[in-house]
Amino acid sequence: MGGYTLIENASLANRNTLRVDARATLLAEIRDATKLPELLDFPAVRNGRLLVLGEGSNVLFTEDFEGTVLAMATRGVQVESDGDSARIAVAAGERWDDFVRWTLGQGFAGLENLILIPGTVGAAPIQNIGAYGCEVAEFVESVEAWDTRARCVVKLDQATCAFAYRDSLFKREPGRYIITAVRFRLPRSRALRTDYAGIEEQLARMGVDHPAPFHVAEAVVHLRTSKLPDPAVIGNAGSFFKNPIVNAALAAQLKQDHPELPAWPQPDGSVKLSAAWLIETAGFKGVREGDAGISNRHALVLVNHGKASGPQLWALAQRVIVGVHAVFGVQLEPEPLVIGAR
Ligand code: FAD
Ligand code: EPU
Repeated sequence: MGGYTLIENASLANRNTLRVDARATLLAEIRDATKLPELLDFPAVRNGRLLVLGEGSNVLFTEDFEGTVLAMATRGVQVESDGDSARIAVAAGERWDDFVRWTLGQGFAGLENLILIPGTVGAAPIQNIGAYGCEVAEFVESVEAWDTRARCVVKLDQATCAFAYRDSLFKREPGRYIITAVRFRLPRSRALRTDYAGIEEQLARMGVDHPAPFHVAEAVVHLRTSKLPDPAVIGNAGSFFKNPIVNAALAAQLKQDHPELPAWPQPDGSVKLSAAWLIETAGFKGVREGDAGISNRHALVLVNHGKASGPQLWALAQRVIVGVHAVFGVQLEPEPLVIGAR
């Protein structure tokens, strides 16, 4: 059988960056997307639950996965047209950061602010990855996926993907689409985004007056490595909570009580608040319960100091949600997919 590998009762410990020791009834690693229909037709796969997994950098397992974990290991990058901009089709299993660096090396602009985000290209549209003032949605022309409901290949254009802050069609219809490739449209040059806090200062420290995309990428790498704990050193899934978006009245009241609360007004009048600030101010930064903790470097990051189980990590996350709500009346929501959440 070419194109995929099947393992029964497989460990997922090295397949999630929170390093939770979970297992899957069946692990199917797929290297050839054209074999998906054949794989999905196996009775053991067809009749059970399915979870698509990239690098597991945005997943918390609170229990074993009873069903098939489909690990995307497809590869390939195709530049479809060129000129002032290019259309680039990328297989879902490619590493996001490798792709970003490749685009910079080829002289394309756009993805520089999104450098060093862990994970696969196929996962990037799921929560519309974003950092340092940019979101991937802006560069996604279309997404190719296997629609498990209609049982056919579909091509979803950018509007259909309904991208929003840490959100998309794929999060609203979980499990329906298996993304096999993402088609990007990237320009050769564009106005750089350097307004996110810290970028201009870092470019100045680097002595760069007229930045090119790779300078911005270098500045972002510096900021990210100085702020976020490295999953290779300590288990984590990046921000564990989304920045909450609240109505203007609640934001105004909170700003009155806490003028230093970082807040970003949204086009529709709502206001995005800094979850890290809320968590730190509620007293959770650096807390530890057994091996489950909140990073002392960044209050948004749930960390596994060693052998924390999924339920232990989830219990601490819930304590943070309850604690922040008690102090500020703001409801935090997890960013990662939580398997087995009740
Ligand atoms: P996984 O964690 O494997 O999966 C995430 C979700 O996508 C799951 O629901 C899964 O079922 C689904 N999925 C994955 N692949 C597919 C596919 N091919 N088809 C259908 N569904 C799929 N995110 C940001 O937005 N910005 C950041 O700045 C950022 N920084 C991070 C820093 C660190 C240190 C870490 C650990 C994480 C960070 N993240 C950030 C979160 C994470 O990197 C992204 O969400 C990334 O896109 C997840 O990719 P993955 O391949 O690991 O997906
Ligand atoms: N802050 C605190 N305490 C902390 C950390 C930060 O009060 O411990 C305050 C900072 O002072 C700052 C504000 O929070 O004013 C924002 O901090 P930061 O720039 O680190 O951004 P963030 O809102 O915490 C978001 C994304 C990150 C992304 C960065 C950079 C979400 C949920 N998180 O974090 O994405 O890398 O901005 O753009 O939107 C991820 O999604 O996994 C992720 C890491």
